[in-house]
Amino acid sequence: MCGIVGYIGTKKASPILINGLLRLEYRGYDSAGISTVEKNGLSIMKDKGRVLNLTKLEGIDDLEGTIGIAHTRWATHGKPSPENSHPHQDNSKTFSVVHNGIIENYHELRKFLTDKGYTFYSQTDTEVIPNLIHYYYTNDKQNDTLKFLRAVRNACFDLKGSFALEILCKNYPDNMIVVRKDSPLVIGKGMGENYISSDIPAILSFTKDFYLLNDLEFVILSRNEAKFYNKDLEPIDKKPKVIEWNASSAEKEGYEDFMLKEIYEQPTAIRETIGAKFSENSKCEFENLNFTKEYLSSLNKIYIVACGTAMHAGLVAKNAIEKLCKIETEIDIASEFRYRDPLVDEKTLCIFISQSGETADTIAALKLSKEKGAKTLAISNVIGSSITREADYAIYTHAGSEIAVASTKAYTSQVVLLVILAIYFAEILELDNSYVTNLKKEILELPKKIEETLKLSEKIKEFSKKVYQEHDIFFIGRGIDETVAKEGSLKLKEISYIHSESYAAGELKHGPIALIENGVTVIGIMTDPNLVEKTISNIQEVITRGAKTLVITNQPIDTSMFDMMIQIPDTHPFISPILSIIPLQLFSYYISKEKGLDVDKPRNLAKSVTVE
Ligand code: G6P
Repeated sequence: MCGIVGYIGTKKASPILINGLLRLEYRGYDSAGISTVEKNGLSIMKDKGRVLNLTKLEGIDDLEGTIGIAHTRWATHGKPSPENSHPHQDNSKTFSVVHNGIIENYHELRKFLTDKGYTFYSQTDTEVIPNLIHYYYTNDKQNDTLKFLRAVRNACFDLKGSFALEILCKNYPDNMIVVRKDSPLVIGKGMGENYISSDIPAILSFTKDFYLLNDLEFVILSRNEAKFYNKDLEPIDKKPKVIEWNASSAEKEGYEDFMLKEIYEQPTAIRETIGAKFSENSKCEFENLNFTKEYLSSLNKIYIVACGTAMHAGLVAKNAIEKLCKIETEIDIASEFRYRDPLVDEKTLCIFISQSGETADTIAALKLSKEKGAKTLAISNVIGSSITREADYAIYTHAGSEIAVASTKAYTSQVVLLVILAIYFAEILELDNSYVTNLKKEILELPKKIEETLKLSEKIKEFSKKVYQEHDIFFIGRGIDETVAKEGSLKLKEISYIHSESYAAGELKHGPIALIENGVTVIGIMTDPNLVEKTISNIQEVITRGAKTLVITNQPIDTSMFDMMIQIPDTHPFISPILSIIPLQLFSYYISKEKGLDVDKPRNLAKSVTVE
């Protein structure tokens, strides 16, 4: 939530900052602002609304500064308004600050500062930060070069919660200080310039060399240098990491929306994620993993913990892990897991899935599992993200950067990676799984089958046109298909704002069927040959009550009773969600387009949820 960009170099900062904000808008888009170092002090320009509003502010083109900080906001404390927008300044306008995260003790700090005579203009938690820095700065009697840094460090020690901060001080016009704790921030190293951002893709077109910051590492940036300090303000050495990502994945490349582009990138994302981990006749291998038979045999349970779509990928994996490895596998929502004192110990392996690797609840759940003695394994799409640095082991999906808020290619990549992980475990455990060879063959054929599935898009668009004005849409399925129903329903809610529910088809009769009446749309997913007849009976029951039906299947079934049927390629049941979700991603996309909505930036949502 909230995107941060910064620039310190020799070029005019404002266009670079605005460009970076546009790329980060998926992290929040209800206000935007920038502060630059100008000849006559620190400038501030900010307003509510999208980044484009900012570009229209009078005087923004006249900014000359070559050092600046910028922010796009997803409101937590205080509604979107010019006052609540970042950057924030202290009363004397000596410091400008942008902040991503939440300051949990801001009431206390506000009172402390008010008692000292400070006043506040916004409802934000952030506004205490520049004033607190000012407080420490003015009370520091030493006048050396580290005075600015000491003030920032002392202020950060008072903050409870999470923060990624960029700070300018008008008395240090050639510097900027950045620091993070439980919120993401990276520094991109250029030639005679440095870039700062909440995530790598926003500045990938400028550099491939990145410094990744740990919690409470302080950085003094100048044009030519990045000086790092630990929390005791002792200098530390840090080497940049080369990130081999393609900057073009952050462009739309002719597609109308990122979401559509990302849906169509799934064959590549899956191909890249499978990589060279196995072939039909060779065992699965992960470069970064070294699990042993002894350790895996000692496990009582595997926990998979995640949020949103990533959690749905975990639901799919449960089936494969339990069947292939014979280890009980439980899935949990990170925000629940972290507060319910889960039964986790050294006999539990905890797997955390997070596309961004920055989701606050997932990171907290990981830390908790470590404290309880479990080994932790992170699955992320972002190299060097917080979750991967926190975990004992990290493996990656190679989906390329995902920009649209509604996750598509990250989900299918997570599913394939988890199923490969399940095979890897089963092979170490030397379990006799006769069907693994066939499963591997089917995994390798996935990219081709996804391409075939994508060809069904016109048919799906046609159905979307028939139902886009509906108010309620139900998704049903059994077994693995129920997990897809959940993900399909989430996609629809996220980007079309149509009320939608997903149900295990067999549960329909225990309540929700009361909601079915003439014209209500029900989407049935049936890919499991053992359950298809049962789900057909449930669909029959809703048709009898007047429902419009769309069926997604890979089974040879009689189509005559449904309003529309989408026949997808057949595959192994463990990975069928990778194909059956695609028509549902397209369905949500076309409905959202038909309704004229902003597909990539749906209301109230953000791509990366770095607050709990
Ligand atoms: C947000 C996004 C979802 C995503 C979830 C978890 O809710 O809108 O698309 O699935 O966060 O994000 P993560 O980065 O941890 O996978």
